[in-house]
Amino acid sequence: MLSVKPIMGWNSWNTFAAQINEKLIMEMADAIVEKGYLDAGYEYIIIDDCWARKRRVNGKLDPNPEKFPHGMKYLADYVHSKGLKFGIYSCAGSITCAGYPGSYGYEYDDAKMFASWGVDYLKYDFCNFSEGGDKRNAYLTMAMALRNCGRDIVFAACNWGVGEPAEWMRSHGAHTYRSTGDIRDSLKSFTDIFRSQYTNIEGNAPGCYNDLDMLIVGMRNKGHVGAGGCTDEEYLMHFAMWAFLGSPLIIGADIRKIDSECAKILLNKTLIALNQDDECRPAFPLRCTEKYYTMAKILDKGKIAMAIFNINEDNDWVQNISVVFNDLGVPSNKGLKLRLTDAVTGEDIGIYEDGIWVKVPPTHFKIYVAEIITEDTNQESENQ
Ligand code: GAL
Repeated sequence: MLSVKPIMGWNSWNTFAAQINEKLIMEMADAIVEKGYLDAGYEYIIIDDCWARKRRVNGKLDPNPEKFPHGMKYLADYVHSKGLKFGIYSCAGSITCAGYPGSYGYEYDDAKMFASWGVDYLKYDFCNFSEGGDKRNAYLTMAMALRNCGRDIVFAACNWGVGEPAEWMRSHGAHTYRSTGDIRDSLKSFTDIFRSQYTNIEGNAPGCYNDLDMLIVGMRNKGHVGAGGCTDEEYLMHFAMWAFLGSPLIIGADIRKIDSECAKILLNKTLIALNQDDECRPAFPLRCTEKYYTMAKILDKGKIAMAIFNINEDNDWVQNISVVFNDLGVPSNKGLKLRLTDAVTGEDIGIYEDGIWVKVPPTHFKIYVAEIITEDTNQESENQ
């Protein structure tokens, strides 16, 4: 099965848009390995829109020879030689969003071509799709074409949430599906996406995940989707949200230039572990208001994570926010206690009963991983 866990990788769009070429992609492949991102799980190097020749030649899709002089097989081989996987982009309409040829009517031809190049992932956009056309069938057709092209290719649908994809993309063969318009490099943009999707992830499970769009961590307002940039704390919260909600984690910044603070965020082992947990369960909401959101997520080995996101921007609004353990299926009248670990620092913060009340300043969050203390372990820690 493909996409057993949320896909991790890098995509060219957020930073580079049309400014892509062979050398850049190779440098990104080098950097993702050298800087430890592959070891952390980021495996896919994905070229977004603007790679193709403007017109099809002999009915075939062709890379722009000025940008990709040795062709796509050459580049895919290079990416594979680094232990990485290679992704590319097309569109369900006849023309992509940036004006390059799309796959409408050519789904089976293009899928075969992608397979012959060694493509492992296809992002499939939705621009210029004929009004009144059957959008579900368009995605199904490419899903079937990919399944019959002779190579395992992840099918990453991207129709920006049109027609409630959470209700049909999994059954129509997508391995990931974009559910919103494009992210921008700002607090407002990623919190808007969070608000619109935190209740829309129940279908996340091996084989298909809701894709909240590429990460902006590390962009620092440079590149195509720049919109003011974020503070370090905001980037950390954005990453924690995407990890907690089980979104694919696709870096959008220039990997060669990500600063150390943002590299620390993207490489945070405990947050990545939440995203890649073996149970592959979606998170669910506990108590949510317009200002803060508390959520939980069952983890492997009987653990459960709880998250408190304060996305209110009013600086005076520092709140004591609680998570009641009864809401996690851990009733205190049974004498059950939880040992909590901070999911950002990995620090053991101790044993709690009934619930936890924490001060969370605006645009900050807390995530704890909780483990039930059995009588034996309880005894042990009391004796210490
Ligand atoms: C948009 C898509 C972006 C990017 C762009 C390329 O529709 O949401 O992520 O792929 O097209 O033109």
